[in-house]
Amino acid sequence: MDKQQELYAGKAKSVYTTDDPDRLILHFRDDTSAFDGERMESLERKGKVNNRFNAFIMEKLQEAGIPTHYERLLSDTECVVKKLDMLPVECVIRNIAAGGLVKRLGVEEGSDLAPPTFELFLKNDALHDPMVNEALAETFGWATAEQLAEMKSLTYRVNDVLKQLFAAGDLLLVDYKLEFGLFHGGIVLGDEFSPDGCRLWDANTREKLDKDRFRQGLGGVIEAYEEVGKRIGVDFS
Ligand code: C5P
Repeated sequence: MDKQQELYAGKAKSVYTTDDPDRLILHFRDDTSAFDGERMESLERKGKVNNRFNAFIMEKLQEAGIPTHYERLLSDTECVVKKLDMLPVECVIRNIAAGGLVKRLGVEEGSDLAPPTFELFLKNDALHDPMVNEALAETFGWATAEQLAEMKSLTYRVNDVLKQLFAAGDLLLVDYKLEFGLFHGGIVLGDEFSPDGCRLWDANTREKLDKDRFRQGLGGVIEAYEEVGKRIGVDFS
């Protein structure tokens, strides 16, 4: 598959067009950012670690019948995905209180959330991704009621699959963010899944093993990502 033009460069990934109009190449870079790009750093091995991590998770989700954009690994830091028309909202599920929820509502970090919460955010850097709701999304045309219902249902199904997968590695899936898009009209998961976009804690010590290590300056960021991957069976060789 031929890589053609750079379509878009995000904070940690670059997206390229290919000779197939329905396929894109994602390039996972070593760059890491936090606080809307205010803090940027390059972390050795990150591109490869996240590319392998993401491929492993996408395959597990597909085996569970969840449609994803992922098709195959192309190199250590690249994979081939379906080209989607992305919907401009982010879906967040939380199993345990942390991050934004703790800040917003003053609940104690680490409290169990039963049932898990579902939140919707608008993808808009200039507005710092404000929290929105289904009614606003419908009114402003970000997604239809049917699309929102499908995204919500898929996000919960991902939770069922991944909570179990991580639990087998003695890990707690605290929360995560997913984005979706349309492929020939159908809703498809169009995001990466890596410790950059979720929170994972050691089930016994509650040590943070995700991007909060970078956000909070705890160090050992990529070592933590590798530890999580090894515990669930990701091949980083
Ligand atoms: O910051 P907050 O607590 O709302 O984030 C919830 C989850 O969504 C976290 O796992 C975070 O890493 C992820 N997230 C993300 N990208 C964003 C916002 C949140 O990956 N733009």
